[in-house]
Amino acid sequence: MNALELDTVRLSADRSCLEILDQTLLPGTVKVRKLSRLEDIWEAIRVLRVRGAPAIGVCAGYAMALAASRLPDTDYDAFLAAFREQKAYLASARPTAVNLFWALDRMERVVTSAPDAPLAELRERLFAEAQRIRDEDVAISRSIGRIGFGLLRHGDGILTHCNAGTLATAKYGTATAPLYVALENGWHDLRVYCDETRPLLQGARLTAFELHSAGIDTTLICDGMASITMQRGLVNIVFVGCDRVARNGDAANKIGTSGVAILARYYGIPFYVCAPSSTIDMSIAHGGEIPIEERPPEEVTEMWYRERMAPEGVKVCNPAFDVTDHSLITGIITEKGLCTAPYEDAFRALGIGREEV
Ligand code: MRU
Repeated sequence: MNALELDTVRLSADRSCLEILDQTLLPGTVKVRKLSRLEDIWEAIRVLRVRGAPAIGVCAGYAMALAASRLPDTDYDAFLAAFREQKAYLASARPTAVNLFWALDRMERVVTSAPDAPLAELRERLFAEAQRIRDEDVAISRSIGRIGFGLLRHGDGILTHCNAGTLATAKYGTATAPLYVALENGWHDLRVYCDETRPLLQGARLTAFELHSAGIDTTLICDGMASITMQRGLVNIVFVGCDRVARNGDAANKIGTSGVAILARYYGIPFYVCAPSSTIDMSIAHGGEIPIEERPPEEVTEMWYRERMAPEGVKVCNPAFDVTDHSLITGIITEKGLCTAPYEDAFRALGIGREEV
């Protein structure tokens, strides 16, 4: 099976529920969960059944369309108030990936922009908007893929961290998209190194699974092996995804990413962040303003192990993301073009953030 054939999240044909590929079970089990209650969709985002910034955004879009289709037939003001309540609830599922809030705001604008429309029409428009968010995400990943492919040379070794792949988006991924474009162009000589990505193993369970299933030369390494892999001259370029980019180019991504960037700088290897423009948060000045999710200690001490691997009572720190300083980033690949420092100017030149003005 090629993971590119899997849908991370979709609306059921009868629009009664979301069908979510449960990523907590991969790679061993491919199971699609049908979720219709907002509480279950919230839980799926929280425990990473659906994960990756763009996929979370797509999921949130569909979830709000579904939720709105079930709101009672009231007047517009009551409908908007109930919609906002459900939106705030879904927004509380995870704090770092800005795509969640971006998608929720986009869905709310559908409602606020047409206060005179009949509720039945608003509900249809919400389904259409959710579908547009999903379809645009595929096109965005393709575009990032084409730009990233232009940075590759035959025989390159590419290192990636976490999973910014097809499983993290509607299709193709961001950091993996250049590899899929390379494959389509008949390139079979690229080598990819996947950091396993402790503690939730997105690199081992998801990236290694999807790239290997697509026929890409994939080598799994533990996070602590990135340095020796670079030192041995096996890595020519790093592609990572991101959950939120501040307007100065500081980029939050899965915990461990900033360490990879520091290593890449030491070994003189270009380090690229792949970022749909929806991931760029022009409202914050720098990475210090990005909320970093703190996750349960059991993910470090027990999860994935046959038995607990840490003494009872030991203190555990489990931040899910870190921020890579913009000075360590060679370039940020958006669907609109490749941005280099100074990043704020580069983003504005591409029209990113214009909608806020
Ligand atoms: O906690 P996760 O698995 O949702 O974290 C995902 C990442 O850090 C990805 O690199 C990021 O969301 C980009 S996905 C295209």
